[in-house]
Formats: sequence, structure tokens, C-alpha cells
Amino acid sequence: MSRLVEHDAQGPRKLTEDDIDPEKGDVAICQCGLADSYPFCDGSHRRTEDEDADAVYDYDVDDADRRPVAEIVHADEE
Ligand code: FES
Repeated sequence: MSRLVEHDAQGPRKLTEDDIDPEKGDVAICQCGLADSYPFCDGSHRRTEDEDADAVYDYDVDDADRRPVAEIVHADEE
């Protein structure tokens, strides 16, 4: 499985001690790309649990919608 995720940041987000979860004592970085609190994991990765291993998905981060992607065509391949 994989997914298409749009990001608009153009630089790094430096972590500080304030980013440490006071209850857990750690920092969980989102690797699925779906967190509302990106770059921090907020549990949104649970939306990916039933993804088909061979599929690519396009997620609407603002709601629960996701669509399978049939084909990726790059602009310079048209
Ligand atoms: S890994 Fe992305 S929200 Fe948890």
C-alpha cells in the first residue's frame, strides 16, 4: 500500500523539548502523512489499517474520504 499526500511546507520543523508528550515522555512523528497535527502522529494512521497492499490511495485529509488511484501520470509523460 501507499498513498499520495500533499504537503506545502518548504523547510524543516525543528523539534524542541516542548514537543515531548508529557505523559508518554516521547515524540511520535507521523509517517503516514495523514495527521492533522503533522509532523506529529495523532492517531490518523488508523485510517490506513484496511488499505489493500497493492493499491495506491488519495486521501482527503479534511474528511474521512479516500479514493484508490488507478494510474499516476506525470505532466511530462502526457
Ligand atoms: S503515523 Fe501518521 S498519524 Fe500516526
